[in-house]
Amino acid sequence: MSEESATFAINGHNLDMSVMNGSVGPKVIDVRKLYAQTGMFTYDPGFTSTASCESKITYIDGDQGVLLYRGYQIQDLAEHANFMEVCYLLLFGDLPTSEQKKKFIHDVTYHTMIHEQLKTFFNGFRRDAHPMAIMVGVVGALAAFYHDSTDINDPHQRLIASYRLIAKMPTIAAMAYKYSIGQPFVYPRNDLTYAANFLQMTFGVPCEEYEVNPTLERAMDRIFTLHADHEQNASTSTVRLAGSSGANPFACIAAGIACLWGPAHGGANEACLKMLQEIGTVDKIPEFVARAKDKDDPFRLMGFGHRVYKNFDPRAKVMRQSAHEVLGELGVDDPLLDVAMELERIALEDEYFVEKKLYPNVDFYSGIILKAMGFPTTMFTVLFALARTVGWISQWNEMIEDPLQKIGRPRQLYTGPTVREFKPIMQR
Ligand code: SDX
Repeated sequence: MSEESATFAINGHNLDMSVMNGSVGPKVIDVRKLYAQTGMFTYDPGFTSTASCESKITYIDGDQGVLLYRGYQIQDLAEHANFMEVCYLLLFGDLPTSEQKKKFIHDVTYHTMIHEQLKTFFNGFRRDAHPMAIMVGVVGALAAFYHDSTDINDPHQRLIASYRLIAKMPTIAAMAYKYSIGQPFVYPRNDLTYAANFLQMTFGVPCEEYEVNPTLERAMDRIFTLHADHEQNASTSTVRLAGSSGANPFACIAAGIACLWGPAHGGANEACLKMLQEIGTVDKIPEFVARAKDKDDPFRLMGFGHRVYKNFDPRAKVMRQSAHEVLGELGVDDPLLDVAMELERIALEDEYFVEKKLYPNVDFYSGIILKAMGFPTTMFTVLFALARTVGWISQWNEMIEDPLQKIGRPRQLYTGPTVREFKPIMQR
């Protein structure tokens, strides 16, 4: 079958560019020779129509509200798999056998401790430092401790670095929380699951045995799965771009954490809960919806809208169900959940949101669950970063192993001053 191509009429000439097919989803026009042959760039601020790479890891169909990790539907993984199986799937391409799962869990478990010297890093922060600022600093500093896993050209070192990052993120995240409340750090325990271990490091104290609540453990594990990867979102693209220069994996993940922090991205769960608290009661919702629709008001409904999903975010559906389970289990009657449910109902009926296809996203319900579990709002994005680390590092590995990968270096449409004479200060 002849190769499909797209023809551009440029400067009076026809230029044919090949069209590439994926296994599913939009085709791409290969514009790699455009500049060489036309002297022109494509122009796509925000990359709304640009495929930055080829990937086999995660697929999103925004119109259908579909999310696949290596082909498996997110709702199936959230229901039937646990986060360690999802980590294995994202890293290695398929769900593990029992033996593979056992070995993987052992390998991750025995990397959960951090170098004892790293504890001193925390003393340099103010107690009221935002934990995301601590995460950026401490994760970036891991490169100063684990030199034996920074050679990105050595597959074994890349694997060890991947295990270290997945394993140590919960330990560092829990330490950031403990530091903020003046409680002692709690060491990881090798006898607990990944989610239970994180909960005991966060909420346990050295003075007594920590009782793991199975419902909270399951909810935590599921929240990690729902946030694990999401195609070429802003923070993943940041990790790939940092990695394309040959930077070590710890620096790349620190860059991803920094990008995720923004309220338009991973910071939306914290911003969403603050918004629900600002709304306060159901009768105040119309006022906020009106503000969200007002072009002159920068206010947006946090937890709504998405660059790709123009339908319900499938993660939000699972998160919604978990919210009811967790609040039911804890006997928490949080008026914010009532506000959230009413806001969702109103927004889904409002013609502005319907016309712009603004649906609740993954961040809309996560804040309510995390608040009920006892996390302060400042920890919400830290949990997102913890979970997304496996996605970031899987995408980073894929990029390093891609024979076509080269340093990322976008161009621009320049509209600044053209060449002009220098003026000595007395003539300005
Ligand atoms: C995440 O990319 C990913 O995959 C991210 C993520 C992941 O897993 O990695 O899914 C995680 O970041 C989820 C998104 C969390 N962010 C929020 O909840 C913040 C609120 N949402 C918006 O900031 C916004 O929806 C974005 C940033 C998420 C998407 O922005 P886009 O794609 O650039 O959309 P847009 O800003 O062009 O919006 C289209 C229109 C605009 O109106 P017009 O200019 O066309 O008139 O919809 C409006 C926007 O004003 N709009 C909203 C809105 N979101 C978009 N109006 C009110 N409230 C909102 N939340």
